[in-house]
Amino acid sequence: MNAKSTKQEDVATTATLLGKKASSIPTPAPITEHGNAKVVAIFNQKGGVGKTTTTINLGASLAEMGRRVLLVDFDPQGGLSLGLGVNAHSLPLEQTVYYALMTPTANVDSIVLKSAVPGLDFLPANRDLGTAETTLGA
Ligand SMILES: Nc1ncnc2c1ncn2[C@@H]1O[C@H](COP(=O)(O)OP(=O)(O)OP(=O)(O)O)[C@@H](O)[C@H]1O
Ligand SMILES: [Mg+2]
Repeated sequence: MNAKSTKQEDVATTATLLGKKASSIPTPAPITEHGNAKVVAIFNQKGGVGKTTTTINLGASLAEMGRRVLLVDFDPQGGLSLGLGVNAHSLPLEQTVYYALMTPTANVDSIVLKSAVPGLDFLPANRDLGTAETTLGA
């Protein structure tokens, strides 16, 4: 399959691989105003099942549709941050989601980073976040 192909029959989807008719998903109408923020959590205890990939692509898709999106990396591995081009392990603690979570006076705006996708921002995480569970559970 050619990645640049625009031919419908060249596109392999789960439906086509299973010999089923692909369902058509309508393109939502452009938004005219922003309402209250909605929180979507992508979580699964099992590792390597596509949580980070789904989060980045869902966020980028919503941003492309005109939504303002803040992705919050809540994984001490920092995979989401890395996927958006930032090695969060080299960031000081004060510039991570851990600091935003644990410090009531933290200025979250100064921790938020912009991705290459307009409208898609994120809070980076690194291994410091690993101590939050212990601290919060104490
Ligand atoms: N829909 C998909 N089809 C094929 N491969 C995928 C798909 N989604 C993710 N992957 C691949 O699966 C692997 C794991 O994905 P990802 O890192 O998103 O999982 P994860 O659940 O966040 O893992 P972890 O538990 O380590 O944080 C990656 O190599 C990714 O490229
Ligand atoms: Mg992940």
